[in-house]
Amino acid sequence: MFAKRTQWDLTPNAFSQALERLRTSGRKVLDLTASNPTVVGLDYEREKIVRALHHPEALHYQPEAKGLRVAREAVARYYAELPQPVTVDPERIILTASTSEAYTYCFRLLCDPGDEVLVPRPSYPLFELLAGIQDVKLAPYPLFYDHGWHMDVSALGEAVTSRTRAVIVVHPNNPTGSYVQVSERGALNETCKEHDLTLVADEVFMDFPHGQPQASFAGDQDVLTFTLSGLSKIAGLPQMKVAWMAVSGPAGLRNESMSRLDVIADTYLSPNAPLQWATPELLQTRHAFQHSLLARLRHNLAELDRRLSQQSLCSRLHVEAGWYATLRTPAIRSDEELAVRLMEKEGVVVHPGHFFDFTQEGHLVLSLLTPPEDFTEGLRRILSAVGDSS
Ligand SMILES: Cc1ncc(COP(=O)(O)O)c(C=O)c1O
Repeated sequence: MFAKRTQWDLTPNAFSQALERLRTSGRKVLDLTASNPTVVGLDYEREKIVRALHHPEALHYQPEAKGLRVAREAVARYYAELPQPVTVDPERIILTASTSEAYTYCFRLLCDPGDEVLVPRPSYPLFELLAGIQDVKLAPYPLFYDHGWHMDVSALGEAVTSRTRAVIVVHPNNPTGSYVQVSERGALNETCKEHDLTLVADEVFMDFPHGQPQASFAGDQDVLTFTLSGLSKIAGLPQMKVAWMAVSGPAGLRNESMSRLDVIADTYLSPNAPLQWATPELLQTRHAFQHSLLARLRHNLAELDRRLSQQSLCSRLHVEAGWYATLRTPAIRSDEELAVRLMEKEGVVVHPGHFFDFTQEGHLVLSLLTPPEDFTEGLRRILSAVGDSS
């Protein structure tokens, strides 16, 4: 009765079973996988956010495929206000309900069933589902670690087949926190040009650098480029469901894709009026949110370094930006076994590396969003448990 693409194996794995047991045990849970910014004690301009939702114009229905101009202009201002400003024409911005939906538009525009899209490995686990639901196949290209993460540009070229339609870059990547380096961007563009590929740049974590901010892909004109982002991460408002894609690249391809995307967006008209009218104010609230979150991220990262300096078994990988840090642990058991053991013995939840498709054992991913007291105590228990069992 059902389509093959929905034949998922929904049997809970050892990690989710242990998590369920921990959650129902009544024990205090130290959750170092926190990803919901609205529940971890960060500062928001609450009144401003609530006021933004009361726009009287929202009483009128004005269907507009790309989204209301007022919201698209606010997104264009966001790019103009980046540390390395980019001019983006509001006519080349399409609003969506989420970055995930923007991916769907990209896949529908670019891929026939069975076509392939290249994705970094390790990276964001939801790609598998986002692509699978659209009958698109993912082909990984490796990132490798050598005093920092790097794109294996020659492996990227080798991963291209006659079915490849696009390359996804996550800038900065989740969970490695690595930007696409300036030196890698040229090679990336060359690969796209040589094989007629579109570049899809996911920049949802762009505004959370731990050091030097990097340039957005939204200004790239070399190849057809779709730059994706949204309020979910940059303003810490995943519940508002406002995201977008900005289209750049050679004029012919840009215009052709805008006409086609217009039809796709017009078919759904998914962004709602109250949120589109609220977008200019909601985007303004990002400054206070980012200030609060960056302080949290840096505090937890410093705590991580302080604790790591007191022992020698674990270390952390270099991270340039984003909400996560990767802990290197001795690979004496699988990451999943270690994560399950940490839940059962210590009441601490962390993501095993394989969740993000790390190819080697010995990686745990910690969320720097975690409230500081939980982060410190969770980390203490992780390091002591790893120490005891090594
Ligand atoms: C790299 C990356 N892209 C996209 C998303 C999804 O964003 P949205 O909430 O706008 O769908 C996430 C969410 O965690 C993410 O980590």
